[in-house]
Amino acid sequence: LQYLVSIEDLSTEEVEALIERAEKFKRNPSLFDLKYPIYTTNLFFENSTRTHSSFEVAEQRMKLNIVSFNPSISAVSKGETLYDTVLTMGAIGTQIAVIRHPENEYYKQLIGENDLGVGIINGGDGSGQHPSQCLLDMMTIKEEFGTFKDLKVAIVGDLTNSRVAKSNMQLLKKLGASLYFSGPKEWFSEEFAEYGQYLEMDELVTEVDVMMMLRVQHERHADDSKFSKQNYHEKFGLSVARGKKLKAGSIIMHPGPINRDVELASDLVECEQSRFVKQMTNGVFVRMAILEAVINGRHLMEAD
Ligand code: CP
Repeated sequence: LQYLVSIEDLSTEEVEALIERAEKFKRNPSLFDLKYPIYTTNLFFENSTRTHSSFEVAEQRMKLNIVSFNPSISAVSKGETLYDTVLTMGAIGTQIAVIRHPENEYYKQLIGENDLGVGIINGGDGSGQHPSQCLLDMMTIKEEFGTFKDLKVAIVGDLTNSRVAKSNMQLLKKLGASLYFSGPKEWFSEEFAEYGQYLEMDELVTEVDVMMMLRVQHERHADDSKFSKQNYHEKFGLSVARGKKLKAGSIIMHPGPINRDVELASDLVECEQSRFVKQMTNGVFVRMAILEAVINGRHLMEAD
């Protein structure tokens, strides 16, 4: 890969290869053999715990050199643009940049004919895409079920604002899963109807193999007064009572961070059916596989 900005850019074969490689890294994290120094940077213009930290762990495990970056003490605070920031990073020898940014498709100015010599890995753009989260979710589902074909997967909650919902529905459909959606009906637009059907939570819980809950993104809602936390939990959340109705063998997923007792009952976060912790663990190995694919795609370990 020259870059990874959208899950839609990957063929099924590329997805399978990345997941297989991540599985190998999980068995043996020392598999990557660094031949020349490689410089990476993590440019996070939006807050993150999981994505930022697990990319950093992945980079450290691969012995890459991390060029530190904090937007609040960088020249961004003086008005420097994203483009000029990446231009600078490329000029000083940084070869890969993981970027999270609030603007949808920020990456278009940095790839293809606009490539600045820096391999861009999208760590999340606005409400657009979150390809590394999507791949770690697929790895977690594959570990559980071995296949995606005819698997019933529900994506529930703040669909409109969720880059995880969009990336995951696109890839899950391509891999042969059947998709269902739930949550406030006004957040289920035409865009989602193309991928699967809407069901109320009480119908959904007895049907699906994977119950993927999404965080209510309070920070992206202009008016958050419509649902109280309790009201949202009762109507749209995976409560303890609904959790008891889940099919045997089904799993609960959440990309994090979780609003406990809003979209997901606090008691279910680490329950037997929850894969929340496993998703975060798998994130490191998927990110190692992505970094390696970009390193190989840009021939960064070949002599000039
Ligand atoms: N899932 C996810 O993107 O979490 P962070 O915002 O903590 O990176």
